[in-house]
Amino acid sequence: MRILVIGSGGREHALAWKIAQSKLADKVFCAPGNGGIAQQAECVDIKADDIPGLLDFARKERVDLTVVGPEGSLAIGIVDEFQKAKLRVFGPKRDAARLEASKVFAKELMAKYSVPTADFKIFSAEGGYGGDMDAAYKYIEKRGAPCVVKADGLAAGKGVVVAKTVDEAKQAVLSMMEQRIFGDAADTVIIEDCLEGQEASILVFTDSREVVPLASAQDHKRIFDNDQGLNTGGMGAYSPAPVVTASLFKEIIEKIINRTINGLAREGIEYRGVLYAGVMLTKDGPKALEFNVRFGDPETEAILPRMRSDLLEVMLAASEGKLNRVVKSGGLIWDARPCVCVVCASGGYPGEYQKGKEIFGLDEVSKMKDIVVFHSGTKLTTNDQRLTTKFLTNGGRVLGVTGLGNTIKEAIDRTYQAVGKINFEGMHFRRDIGKKAI
Ligand code: AMP
Ligand code: GLY
Repeated sequence: MRILVIGSGGREHALAWKIAQSKLADKVFCAPGNGGIAQQAECVDIKADDIPGLLDFARKERVDLTVVGPEGSLAIGIVDEFQKAKLRVFGPKRDAARLEASKVFAKELMAKYSVPTADFKIFSAEGGYGGDMDAAYKYIEKRGAPCVVKADGLAAGKGVVVAKTVDEAKQAVLSMMEQRIFGDAADTVIIEDCLEGQEASILVFTDSREVVPLASAQDHKRIFDNDQGLNTGGMGAYSPAPVVTASLFKEIIEKIINRTINGLAREGIEYRGVLYAGVMLTKDGPKALEFNVRFGDPETEAILPRMRSDLLEVMLAASEGKLNRVVKSGGLIWDARPCVCVVCASGGYPGEYQKGKEIFGLDEVSKMKDIVVFHSGTKLTTNDQRLTTKFLTNGGRVLGVTGLGNTIKEAIDRTYQAVGKINFEGMHFRRDIGKKAI
């Protein structure tokens, strides 16, 4: 089979890496890909949101399955267009992708179908729902802090402010609704209760009828050790997350995942693809923080090295509405060993960051057993004579160094050994990835 992976991050590198191992895969393309992905797949210079360009390519190259990585492409309806063109594609259609593209849609669905989540109120610039910005201010003053202010639409992971004070919350509302820092994405905002507890990422494959869970994972969103500093795209992850006990896992699947998928179905919306629930494990039980309609990054980098089953087979089944095949065969098989992924970031990230720095040490690390380096923001360059190649940094998150170990401690130690062999100017990383699991 010929597979096209869409996207250019560490997540897409992990997907391409795992798909390339499938006995069904003859050829893997990635659009646009990155320097590291070029080692597993043929990278083609088409942007992830260029739907006509991607359609043309898939037709011309007789692609059998297209796997969509990023939410932006799903939100603009790439799956609908591929299906119209009778091309097989993995991911939810536009109406289902609203679960991530509109937090208002997600919250209202959760409220309607009793999915446990933080209590909330909605405000919009035109004054619908609970009222306009002034009403939001009054609401914040009345309810007090802490509280969480969320932009309705996609804001590149920056649309959530966990406000410790009333002033901070009002500032967040002002910057979203009046200063419009996220444009239309924050015409409507949600103000919700601040939940406390540990976070976990629960991902499942679904075709609307069946649910096939992946192994649990935990992300590390803040830039500095001990969860200090600004939010990032994710500075590291590990799988499994031991805080998610078997009974909690079951409860999350029943109360959060199943109720959401069944709720969507009752609204006439079919969900096919991977569904990711960000969950807070509160003292009153697990509550949904948010949904993503795609694989997590860097969770995917920590989950897929543990997956023994054929990813491509599962994706084909989900995209065809035949996941019962996977369920009947007993679900997914996992390597019991824990996996840790440490993200190496560019100087300046998550603010403005440097690019074009040469990365050293990758050759040496590639010889280490059970270590894989997934590339997020890298570029491969060759010298004029095309004799030597080198990797340059080309993004905020640069590498996801990933390792398996017999224990979580061993996985952490081995991964950091590998990280220690890699360097580029300005490189920084968290030193406490996985610590919470010990
Ligand atoms: P999101 O951009 O929706 O993934 O949210 C980013 C992060 O904000 C989450 O991973 C949580 O750490 C935090 N967050 C979101 N909602 C809440 C909430 N209701 N209470 C506490 N933290 C939250
Ligand atoms: N790791 C968080 C995300 O993928 O949204």
